[in-house]
Amino acid sequence: MTDHNQTVSPKDRVLIFDTTLRDGEQCPGATMTFEEKLEVADFLDAMGVDIIEAGFPIASDGDFEAVSAVAKRVKRATVAGLARAGQKDIDRAGEAVKAAVKPRIHTFLSTSPVHMKYKLQKEPEEVLALVASSVARARNWVEDVEWSAEDGTRTEIDFLCRCVETAIKAGATTINIPDTVGYTTPDEYRALFRTVRERVPNSDKAIFSVHCHNDLGLAVANTLAGLEGGARQIECTINGIGERAGNAALEEIVMAIRTRSDVLPFETGIDATLLNRASKLVATATSFPVQYNKAIVGRNAFAHESGIHQDGMLKHTQTYEIMTPESVGVSKTSLVMGKHSGRAAFRSKLKEMGYDLGDNQLEDAFTRFKALADRKKHVYDEDIEALVDENIASAHDRVKLVSLTVIAGTRGPQRATMRLDVEGRVVTEEAEGNGPVDAVFNAIKAIVPHEAMLELYQVHAVTEGTDAQAEVSVRLSQDGSSVTGRGADPDTLVSSAKAYLVALNKLVAKGGRLHSQAAAE
Ligand code: KIV
Ligand code: ZN
Repeated sequence: MTDHNQTVSPKDRVLIFDTTLRDGEQCPGATMTFEEKLEVADFLDAMGVDIIEAGFPIASDGDFEAVSAVAKRVKRATVAGLARAGQKDIDRAGEAVKAAVKPRIHTFLSTSPVHMKYKLQKEPEEVLALVASSVARARNWVEDVEWSAEDGTRTEIDFLCRCVETAIKAGATTINIPDTVGYTTPDEYRALFRTVRERVPNSDKAIFSVHCHNDLGLAVANTLAGLEGGARQIECTINGIGERAGNAALEEIVMAIRTRSDVLPFETGIDATLLNRASKLVATATSFPVQYNKAIVGRNAFAHESGIHQDGMLKHTQTYEIMTPESVGVSKTSLVMGKHSGRAAFRSKLKEMGYDLGDNQLEDAFTRFKALADRKKHVYDEDIEALVDENIASAHDRVKLVSLTVIAGTRGPQRATMRLDVEGRVVTEEAEGNGPVDAVFNAIKAIVPHEAMLELYQVHAVTEGTDAQAEVSVRLSQDGSSVTGRGADPDTLVSSAKAYLVALNKLVAKGGRLHSQAAAE
């Protein structure tokens, strides 16, 4: 086994372990389709992520298929599959990652008193035995085995050290001590790594890993403290998505390390200029909008509104910017697009924004851009982004919006006439509702009957002005799984229909069957 040197040199390389496709996808409403997972995995690989945790293969056949497919196509990064300590879990994970160029099994077991007593209902000695057997079984499949002490930060230190020693003895090459419930603080987490590394006799035989949740808003701070304590692998997600309040955000960690290299003597292999696009890709795939003031990738992260700040920026950008927008892939040049812009300008705008579309996709996007530009004076970057992302998302849709007319106003009842293309057949239906949005959704239901429940309906403007694009998010749930869809259009009712259909298509992609009752035209 490799002897991993963990002493701090002037700039220690830290490994980025991205778990957007596993811990990220695990959060309610962030489910991705098979194709979306592959697209995200390809992007993470291109961006320089060292380890991609592609999913939890035992969780479902869909997860297994996705992990196997990612394992087969990713050429550079290590591909990890998650497994609990049981034999079936480990074998399923081993089966899923075996085709990878660099496969890893990530197996975990709870070690805190509260988890052992109530969740596992096992004595500490039984847990220790399981650590040894699970890691050994994983080593029968692959050489690269990560072991995680779930709820590590609430585990008694002596027991944690015994577990870590046992895992390394059984063959674990990476040891992760997660702050599963987002409970720790930077000082405590730093000290925890120092103590474990000092006290465990074989600790130099493994790489230590941090995995922080954001329940107290400390995930990134704790992650950086863990590095100071000697960890050299960081587990994180794009946009910080993940269970409850999420995981530590990859883009924040990477840019903190780069921007404060004076006090954080580390480096990653991430191409930071791709961070903005990664954020957009994951936001679109999960339909989880990025909060406007989100560090690094929020739309306001490089926007200066107040007169004093604008004045300072005009004199020297370093007055109010600690990193350049270009360094994270945000382009400053603002080519204003409108109805007179031609195909070439549109193509170059897309290129500048980091999109590389095939000819057919480009043509579709251009047609939609022209239709939008006819209705809207200025077409902003955000409008184009919404339009292209929607275009990409709809490529595999089985139900597509053809047209919508709504009668609304004070005299009611509100009535919607909807035309949908259902797997190639155009179907028209009319429906009434308690308000125009309700009428629109009822019309969809009349054409495609389904049992999904509407859990969330949200509207916000993509840009400013009364002609702004309205962006609608819709969350639907059916049979215990929930999906979110986003749609943008200057007409709020059209965005509502689009968002609902995106969500419905996701449900269908997850195995729901389509029943179209209306007669084809
Ligand atoms: O938060 C956690 O403890 C996890 C483990 C499975 C590593 O996600
Ligand atoms: Zn986690």
